[in-house]
Amino acid sequence: MKKVAILTSGGDAPGMNACIRAIVLTAEHYGLEVIGYKHGYNGLIEQEYKLLAPVNVNNIGQRGGTILKSGRCVDFHTEEYGRAAAKNLLDLDIDALFVIGGNGSFRGAHHLSKYYNGQVIGLPGTIDNDISGTDATIGYYTAIETALDSIDKVRDTADAFERIFLIEVMGRHAGFIALSAAVASAADRVIVPEDCGDIEVEVDNLIEHLQAVYRVRGLSSYIVVTSENLLPGGVITLANMISEKTEIECRPVILGHVQRGGSPVSQDRILAAKLGAYAVEQAIEGHNAVMVGEHNNQLVTLPIEVSWQQQKPLDKYLLKVQRQLLNL
Ligand code: F6P
Repeated sequence: MKKVAILTSGGDAPGMNACIRAIVLTAEHYGLEVIGYKHGYNGLIEQEYKLLAPVNVNNIGQRGGTILKSGRCVDFHTEEYGRAAAKNLLDLDIDALFVIGGNGSFRGAHHLSKYYNGQVIGLPGTIDNDISGTDATIGYYTAIETALDSIDKVRDTADAFERIFLIEVMGRHAGFIALSAAVASAADRVIVPEDCGDIEVEVDNLIEHLQAVYRVRGLSSYIVVTSENLLPGGVITLANMISEKTEIECRPVILGHVQRGGSPVSQDRILAAKLGAYAVEQAIEGHNAVMVGEHNNQLVTLPIEVSWQQQKPLDKYLLKVQRQLLNL
């Protein structure tokens, strides 16, 4: 093995830069040349890349975003794109490609591996934490901190006005950020897709809980953390539904892309450093079409399909803590 490539794809996540740095420095340690494709799979199709020497990754570990830029490439699942990408890698004599991204990016890597003779290795980088096979993904911990910081601030004004606030966090179709941020912020209620049946029933249960809280605390602030994509119109619709049924004004807040930014927290930097270094060593050992991750403090290498073929479960006990044990 002489030359490897990296790309960052899909929603960027804090810690991607730390991961790029880890790959580049580990590759240097083993005498490998590194290039970085820009804008995710789009750069691979366009053969848009730059050399990544150790000097290029100096002082990037603390920065959010990705120095390689990211992108979504909707046509990458086609044979035409798979073959074009494989040819471009071959033209540059790339022996292994490292893909830092989420589920969609891993599907792309799997697709590419059908046409490419070299090795493809996925590194989990997404704030959503919805990748099976690894306990956490790079970026997840920072997103929780960012959400928590905002929820704490909303709580101050909610408390001053004794208002109901509904705060929508990201996660695509997974409730990891919502549940963690809700527990950490001592939110009164959380609604996550993994534990949400009929939304009307969910709203009725919430109102019942709200009334129980008022009976115990008197009129007070009430904070609900919800995942995005729960229902059309999201948290705005939800706030209207609750207001109509209770005749109490509810304020919706959408945290949005702020959760993707910022300097990565230490857990994300450490995870990025470990997985980046480990991925290079796994490539040198000859692994292909795999993802790397960390499970129970052990580094793991798994077939890349595991990441999307199994649904990663929420921590059931944390859900019980939030919804049953600490709920008044
Ligand atoms: O996958 C990361 C993520 O931030 C999700 O949480 C969110 O649903 C999605 O990306 C938003 O994507 P975009 O930035 O393309 O709107």
